[in-house]
Amino acid sequence: MKQPVRVTVTGAAGQICYSLLFRIASGEMLGEDQPIILQLLEITPALRVLDAIKMELDDCAFPLLRDIICTDDAKVAFTGADYGLMVGAKPRGPGMERADLLKDNGQIFSSIGKIINEVASPNMKICVVGNPANTNAYILMKNAPKLNPNNISALMRLDHNRATYQLAEKTNQPMHTIKKMTIWGNHSTTQVPDISHCTVDGKKATDRVDATWANEEFIPKVAKRGAEVIAARGSSSAASAANGVINHMKSWVLGTENDNWVSMAVCSDGSYGIQPGLIYSFPITCQDGEWSIVQGLENSDFITQKMQASEQELKDEAETCADLC
Ligand code: NAD
Ligand code: LMR
Repeated sequence: MKQPVRVTVTGAAGQICYSLLFRIASGEMLGEDQPIILQLLEITPALRVLDAIKMELDDCAFPLLRDIICTDDAKVAFTGADYGLMVGAKPRGPGMERADLLKDNGQIFSSIGKIINEVASPNMKICVVGNPANTNAYILMKNAPKLNPNNISALMRLDHNRATYQLAEKTNQPMHTIKKMTIWGNHSTTQVPDISHCTVDGKKATDRVDATWANEEFIPKVAKRGAEVIAARGSSSAASAANGVINHMKSWVLGTENDNWVSMAVCSDGSYGIQPGLIYSFPITCQDGEWSIVQGLENSDFITQKMQASEQELKDEAETCADLC
C-alpha cells in the first residue's frame, strides 16, 4: 500500500462536494491503492453541515480513507496538501453569466492564493472549479508565486464530457467510441467545443455529421449547457461537475489513454498563439503526473476566430481583476 496523500477540498459542505467527497474517498480519483486524508475547508457558518458530511463519510467505512480534517482555517486546510480542489465559491443563478461572479469569487481566490503561497507545497496540484474558473485560477496563480504554474489548472472536463455526449447521441454510437474531443478557451459561452480532430469508432467525426450541425447546434448546445441545467434544476450542475473533477484529476495523476486526449485549462505557454500566462483550455495528454498540450493541430479559420474571441474574453477578465493579482 502507498503512503496516504492529502487532498484539500474547499466548499466541502456545498452541492458539488456532496457528490465529490464520496467518490474521492472511494478511490475513484487517485486509484484503489492510494490511501487518502481529506482536509475539508468551509466558512464558519457551514461547519455544522460539514460535521454531518464527515459523519456520512465515516459511515461509509471507506477502506482508503485514513483521516478527515474539517476546518474553517485555510492554513490548516492547505498544510501538507498534495492536491487542492477549489470548489468553494458562489454559484450563479438564472440569468447570470459566470463572469458576473468575478467580483465576489475573485476575492476568495486572491486570499486563498496568498495562504497557499505561505503554507502549501509548491508541488500541490490544483484544480479550480469555482466560477469563473479560468480567471479564478489566474488570480490564484498570481497570488501564489511559489507554486509551479504548471500545477494550477481549471476544470473544463465537464464541458468535454458534455461535448462527448452530444456527439455520441448525434452519431448514435457509444460514448467510449468518441476520441480526441477538444474544448478550447474559457469555461464560458465563448468556449470552443471542436470536433474537427475527433474520431467516432475510428472514423473522422466530420465525415459523420455535417458542418451546419457542428457549428450551429453542437457548439452553442455545449457552451450553454450550464445555463440549461440551471434553468431546469434551479441551481447549477453538481453531480456532473463532481464527475468532471474526478475525471480531470484521474487523467492528470494516472495518465491519459494512448489514443486519446482530454481538455484541461492550463497556463498557456503560447501554443496555438494564445497569450502566455492565461489559463486557457487546450487538448492535453498526461503522463507521470505531467500534462502536455497536444501540438500541431491544424485549425480552420472558423475555429481560430472563435479561439481568439475566447482568449480576448480571458484577457478582459484578467484586466477586470488586475487589483486582485
Ligand atoms: P454551493 O453554494 O452549493 O457550495 C459552495 C460552498 O462553498 C458553500 O458550502 C460555501 O459555504 C462554501 N464557501 C464559500 N466561500 C468559501 C471560502 N472562502 N472558503 C471555503 N468555502 C467557501 O455551490 P456548488 O454548487 O458546490 O458550486 C461551487 C462553485 O463551482 C460555484 O462557483 C459554481 O459556479 C462552480 N461550478 C463550476 C463548474 C465548472 O465546470 N467549472 C461546474 C459546476 C459548478
Ligand atoms: C456549469 O457549467 O454547469 C457550471 O459552470 C455552473 C454554471 O454556472 O453554469
